Amino acid sequence: MITISLIKADIGSFPGHTRAPQKLIDKCKEYLEEVKGQLIVDYYVTRCGDDIQLLMTHTKGVDNEEIHALAWSVFERAANIAIEDKLYGAGQDLLADAFSGNIRGLGPGCAEMEFEEREAESIIAFMCDKTDPAAFNLPLFKIFADPFNTPGLVIDKKLTQGFVFEVHDLMAGKKISLKTPEEMYELLALIGNRDRYAIKRIYRKDGLLAAVVSTEKLSLIAGEYVGKDDPVALVRCQGGLPAVGEVLEPFAFPQLVAGWMRGSHWGPLMPVSEKDANPSRFDGPPRVIALGFQLRHGKLLGPVDMFADVAFDRARALANEIADYIRMHGPFQPHRLSEEQMEYTTLPHVLEKLSSRFAPIE
Ligand code: 13P
Ligand code: 13P
Ligand code: MG
Ligand code: MG
Repeated sequence: MITISLIKADIGSFPGHTRAPQKLIDKCKEYLEEVKGQLIVDYYVTRCGDDIQLLMTHTKGVDNEEIHALAWSVFERAANIAIEDKLYGAGQDLLADAFSGNIRGLGPGCAEMEFEEREAESIIAFMCDKTDPAAFNLPLFKIFADPFNTPGLVIDKKLTQGFVFEVHDLMAGKKISLKTPEEMYELLALIGNRDRYAIKRIYRKDGLLAAVVSTEKLSLIAGEYVGKDDPVALVRCQGGLPAVGEVLEPFAFPQLVAGWMRGSHWGPLMPVSEKDANPSRFDGPPRVIALGFQLRHGKLLGPVDMFADVAFDRARALANEIADYIRMHGPFQPHRLSEEQMEYTTLPHVLEKLSSRFAPIE
């Protein structure tokens, strides 16, 4: 069995929340190189905007203390450099003072899957900046449940059995599993509400794990706004699962996602190449990158930078148009998030100041 762990954190960037510097990425690589061939089989380090991503393969299973401790120490050591270099938000996502058993709940985001490597194991790692975990609800639904996106659901006999979606209620800390196609409407009733519900895992009905998303919510961990969660996801492709092109297809639509400036605005999710993952305009627009790998006994062949393709130019142009349009709303909803969502940003502090001045309407 092989485990693939994608663990990410914002440990400092420049200028503002734009980009994690190459120096920090190189440091993370250096630290992972020290344990390659021992604790881990292979690794790839990159960034999406200000978030650093550690993609690691190993044989220790998910939620493994040694692997999580490794990721924490890599981030911690790199964060110390970020602090010395006076980067913006140095150590931003390392919310705990010290590592304790499992990195989930300490700030970093985490998507992991353990499986028997198939004859040919194609995986896409998605990484976002300036948005939250529910940003994956729409694309994952389309990939695994919408035959207009994924013809394989209709014409590949291994896919016609359908999938099981594990959905998390992030507010209540509860989970539910729903089957498609038969419970598609119930599934949409939940995941269409992106304030609260996020897809965590997707299994093929025969039990094969197909996708996993990091669903850690920083504000719920910290109890206040400390930056957006900037989620990652791993999706297995081909050979009885959606093809690579079916997995990428939903990102040709730059859906509106929560995040962007101060984590408080709806904006279009723009698919970009690794090198173009530099949120600038209004600290965005929100970005997603997609890196394709092939596994060989846990070794990572790749990546192929999937959105570094002219086929996604139109999506980017549309995202820019949507950005022009929605920005014109300034501080008005629906550009600004709803009051319930803003509860987890800085708005409550502003409203507090006014609370004593509210008088009843006659
Ligand atoms: P597989 O069934 O081998 O995944 O091939 C399907 C395909 O490549 C469709 O584009
Ligand atoms: P990050 O969540 O990417 O750190 O961005 C925070 C922010 O406030 C952007 O305006
Ligand atoms: Mg940041
Ligand atoms: Mg970020």
